[in-house]
Amino acid sequence: MFSLSYPRTRSHRLRSSNWSRDLFAEATISSSDLIQPFFITEGNNISEPIDTLPGIYRHSVDNLVKKAENARDLGIKAILIFPQIPKNKKSVDAKESYNSNNLICKAIKELKKHKLDIGIIADVALDPYTLNGHDGITDQNGNILNDETVKILCKQSLTLAEAGCDSVAPSDMMDGRIAKIRDTLEENCFYNTKIFSYAAKYASNFYGPFREAIGSKNFLKNTSKETYQMNFRNSKESIHEIGLDISEGADAIIIKPGMPYLDIIARASDKFNIPIIGYQVSGEYSMLKIASEKQIFNYTKALIESLISFKRAGANAIITYAATDIAKQLMNI
Ligand code: PBG
Repeated sequence: MFSLSYPRTRSHRLRSSNWSRDLFAEATISSSDLIQPFFITEGNNISEPIDTLPGIYRHSVDNLVKKAENARDLGIKAILIFPQIPKNKKSVDAKESYNSNNLICKAIKELKKHKLDIGIIADVALDPYTLNGHDGITDQNGNILNDETVKILCKQSLTLAEAGCDSVAPSDMMDGRIAKIRDTLEENCFYNTKIFSYAAKYASNFYGPFREAIGSKNFLKNTSKETYQMNFRNSKESIHEIGLDISEGADAIIIKPGMPYLDIIARASDKFNIPIIGYQVSGEYSMLKIASEKQIFNYTKALIESLISFKRAGANAIITYAATDIAKQLMNI
């Protein structure tokens, strides 16, 4: 019986030259794999830094257009927008979420006016609009009201579609919302509005900097989202959740957070034949960015390695705050 063993086989042989490492690389990364999230705020000509997310800013709509143009020029195919809503527009019933003149709708309309040829994805959830920072509306005791919330999410999704949004991304983790949102879009003739559903979204500690960025952190102080976001001790449950969202009409699914959850991406990619988007969330970005500022490692190299790991696990696209930084590097600018 012939068996391959040392020294007839040497693992170092194929690793020993650049060309053979490149030729047989299983996973690659390009700017067309990346989605850049942006935070927006009211006003003009504003780009204000966010303490917990070094290098990331809240932009006014005019500045957002310039940033989106820049992302498009770097080969990035889609952007994701999150609004910071002033406190006086937050309410118990989150009604600002479906005001067709709200900040995010203004941003979408402005971006569309510029015909940028870049996908515009809008988050669907109520956390920027509720007084307590929860993704849905709550009763007096702070319990999430699932079915009432889904009705509002449908109104929010329709408003976003009417503003011209290419894809809605429900990140709220309410039960049954994908079916209802899909029906709402179909009934209103938005046949090509995509739904990228956060199908497996875990109740994670890594969202901290994001909550600071949209201004919901202080409100959430004494509570958590564990009653509706997934338990991070579970993996099988993600398959159940993803299956539901696909059957309800999701066009692609988002798994979030990213790096500590690559097992979930790998499992989902084995099981489902639908595009998978991995989300390298705010806390992951901040860790990498702050460690590289302290020169613990090289930012670009560590980022590329981390993004390749998403692709290796089976992600088709990645949401990362570093998208533009990395796209620049990939173009050697
Ligand atoms: C909420 C939402 C969150 C993120 C995206 N949408 C935070 C949360 O669930 O509290 C987190 C993204 C990140 O941390 O980068 N709808």
